[in-house]
Amino acid sequence: MATAPQIKRQAPNILVTGTPGVGKSTLCQKLSETSGLQWLEISKIAKDYNCLEEYDEVYQCPILDEDKLLDGLEEVMCKGGNIVDYHSCEFFPERWFDVVFVLRTDNTTLYDRLVARGYTGKKLEDNIDCEIFQTILEEARASYNVDIVHELSSVAPTELEDNVNRICLWLQQWFQDNQ
Ligand SMILES: Nc1ncnc2c1ncn2[C@@H]1O[C@H](COP(=O)(O)OP(=O)(O)OP(=O)(O)O)[C@@H](O)[C@H]1O
Ligand SMILES: [Mg+2]
Repeated sequence: MATAPQIKRQAPNILVTGTPGVGKSTLCQKLSETSGLQWLEISKIAKDYNCLEEYDEVYQCPILDEDKLLDGLEEVMCKGGNIVDYHSCEFFPERWFDVVFVLRTDNTTLYDRLVARGYTGKKLEDNIDCEIFQTILEEARASYNVDIVHELSSVAPTELEDNVNRICLWLQQWFQDNQ
């Protein structure tokens, strides 16, 4: 079967992932304002476009209709210029992303942030375990070329600035290399 020719994107697509509460949305909002790239907050998009199925009682969250979500995003992702924000990454097509950033925190910081959000019991424990076992980092490394997967510490407010600056430098380089 012939493969479709790859159409070059006008701007890169960035994936920002990590355990719930590590600071993805905080970073993506700032990065979007600074860079002009479009922030796609997948949890919100899934809700707005009815991509959520029945509620998972054990994990206390709705189940995502991945196929419907991916179909809906295909066109905008092919154009490029998006920052995708989600706490999982394996089900996105590998070809969508030029770079992947995995945000990380220490366990105490994450615990405090999740408790402040009202997480308790299994949901709280599972998310802390997810960070301890670096589940999302491993998932990203297994799903994308390891050379494009980068870990970023997201504990202190100064790191937020550092991370935005670092990604903006990466963006400048991408535009230089892809003119
Ligand atoms: N670099 C940082 N320094 C200090 N606090 C931060 C930093 N980044 C995020 N926070 C705080 O951590 C909390 C969680 O951040 P945020 O909502 O951005 O996480 P998230 O990864 O998007 O979570 P979710 O996956 O549930 O959407 C917020 O209260 C936010 O203000
Ligand atoms: Mg978020």
